[in-house]
Amino acid sequence: MKRVLIQGGRVLDPQSGRDEVCDVLVEGGKIAAVDREIAAEGCEVIDAGGCWVTPGLIDLHTHLREPGQEYKEDIASGGRSAVAGGFTTVACMANTHPVNDDPSVTDYILDRALHDSPARVFPIAAATQGLKGELMTEMHALVAAGAVAFSDDGKTIMDAGVMRRVLDYAHGVGRPVIVHAEDCTLVGEGVVNEGLVSTRLGLPGNPATAEVIQVARDLHLAELTGCHLHVAHVSTAGAVDLIRAARDRGIFVTAEVTPHHLALTDEATLNFDTNAKMAPPLRSAEDRDACRRGLADGTLDAVATDHAPHAVQEKDVEFTKAPPGIIGFETAIPVVLDLVREGILSPLELIRRMTINPARILHLEYGTLTPGVPADITLIDPEKSWVYDPAKGYSKSRNSPWTGKPMQGRVVSVLVGGEPVYDVERGILTP
Ligand code: DOR
Repeated sequence: MKRVLIQGGRVLDPQSGRDEVCDVLVEGGKIAAVDREIAAEGCEVIDAGGCWVTPGLIDLHTHLREPGQEYKEDIASGGRSAVAGGFTTVACMANTHPVNDDPSVTDYILDRALHDSPARVFPIAAATQGLKGELMTEMHALVAAGAVAFSDDGKTIMDAGVMRRVLDYAHGVGRPVIVHAEDCTLVGEGVVNEGLVSTRLGLPGNPATAEVIQVARDLHLAELTGCHLHVAHVSTAGAVDLIRAARDRGIFVTAEVTPHHLALTDEATLNFDTNAKMAPPLRSAEDRDACRRGLADGTLDAVATDHAPHAVQEKDVEFTKAPPGIIGFETAIPVVLDLVREGILSPLELIRRMTINPARILHLEYGTLTPGVPADITLIDPEKSWVYDPAKGYSKSRNSPWTGKPMQGRVVSVLVGGEPVYDVERGILTP
């Protein structure tokens, strides 16, 4: 049986609370032991000196664009980009073409992932047919096919009666509903955060209130139905406050925040950079700081990239016409490491929000280094300096606001099921 010893790294395993320099032994694709000075006889040794050794990162919110928009990304390229960013497991949203509102699409995604992706891929099915917000999908059949959650992400279910039924039925099949919370009547034509920046740019604004109102409604409906509500890409102080208060009242709610909403503000759009356009938009510094506090105090459970590839020709247009979204796998770690450097989160707490927390939200068995589980492991050099160039990355798309920016911290090595799949020097290691 193949034995791999990851030697001398700083092991961060939030599930057990372990944060110490030690070794990790992998045997037959599973974690066999985590201990100080494990004997190296008969092992392939990976020197992890100076690195963090974490459970494989889990991204619960991604867009892999297959089926239907393979010119932006496909499951193979998205999976490669994911592991290059340290993500061994990703969940992919349903806004593909056709929409993942039918078990045949769920099956297709799982089949492609099995053959093409070095990362594990879990499909999120649509909550309503065609993402139209009108008729529910066949939730039982979709779960049987392998869907791990329901979401119309990219769109808001505006009809509260439909949303109530979606929550009721998802509760019945024991799966969370992930909401894209933006009241479209308030968003209107808005393309940037409503405020000083939208006024200066002369662009239509999207008010923070559009998110806050929608989150308030969905929290009430979660209370009514008892369903697990997961709020995607929280971007406003108001939503953070509502989620915190709802959690205190015992409502079953979890939430995520993206690296970009933690790092950037609407000022990043002042030069009309369409690579800083996303939905929800980048907000004010107060909103960003509230998201950071919410992540630190556990109100926001997870960091999720919302990796949303768009082709160069789609983004290289007027700001109002560009589609929203940015790629995010390969920049996530250096961007969120700033939170550790600024003393907002400890390394262990940051890794918790990128491993065991998203695993629990989606009921996945991954996200820990507990002996016996599949050996999905990420090695991170928190000090490594590099310059991000999406053309050297693995996504088919280039739409990143961090293009050409200096980065500190990099994923250097990744194992999935005990097999090396990525190494910063050698690149992707699987076919
Ligand atoms: O910016 C975004 N892009 N937000 C979404 O919710 C959807 C995503 C996409 O699919 O491009």
